[in-house]
Amino acid sequence: MEKRYTFVINWKMFFDFNEVIDFVSKNLDRMIELSNLFDAEIILSPSFLEIYPLVKIFSKTKIKICAQNCSDHIKGPFTGQVCVKSLSTLGVYSGLIGHSEIRRYKSETNEMIARKFDLLLDFGITPILCIGESEKDNKSGDVFRVLEDQLSGPIKIVASGEKKINGRPIYVAYEPEWSIGTGVTPSLSQLESVFAWINNLVRRASPNSNWKFLYGGSVNPSVSVEISKIRFVNGFLIGRAGTNFEEFEKIVKSTILGVDG
Ligand code: PGA
Repeated sequence: MEKRYTFVINWKMFFDFNEVIDFVSKNLDRMIELSNLFDAEIILSPSFLEIYPLVKIFSKTKIKICAQNCSDHIKGPFTGQVCVKSLSTLGVYSGLIGHSEIRRYKSETNEMIARKFDLLLDFGITPILCIGESEKDNKSGDVFRVLEDQLSGPIKIVASGEKKINGRPIYVAYEPEWSIGTGVTPSLSQLESVFAWINNLVRRASPNSNWKFLYGGSVNPSVSVEISKIRFVNGFLIGRAGTNFEEFEKIVKSTILGVDG
């Protein structure tokens, strides 16, 4: 069966409000064309303040909007946090959780991430669970132990069968920390073994769930084609290259056509 690819742009805090709106206004027609022409799933993840205008702008298109984070609490005295229910009210499709920049700078734990995962499912938002080892863990051969710790909470939630998931995809984005923003990507054979391992772990726990796997970390048009051909890779989580529309367009087109951009 032909793969249908997903491309998530994580704009992090690369842009301010006006820059996001300018980027989208300038490239709107080409973005819509890209999502239609190639039947590519395109998901844009701006920071919180741009979510509402982007949901409106893309409401009649196939392009979906993703939050970069959410609170692990449903309500209460949590100053500065954003509740999942509000994201759902605004029409947000998916939520990034467990990004290494939040694990690292905000001391986010696997337990907090599992609570976010649980809340997203409760409110009908598709989780994009980011996992990935540090350079130190990679060098000491601890990759699978770290990934298993990061995956175990969310896997238990899915496998319990208590959540109404209704065939909605559950994305796992493998993003080795040492690859994010560095221009370095793992070798194809490393990626092949990691994705096969992740696939095996999650499908053993919950064989009938709609698991989808993304690769993230310095994705650019010269590496995306080969990575996209890896058996269990369904798409990309793209940071820096998503701030340049031409680069992003090249990644989408070359992946779908299977030829280097
Ligand atoms: P990068 O970021 O593509 O700039 O490496 C990816 C990410 O952090 O999701």
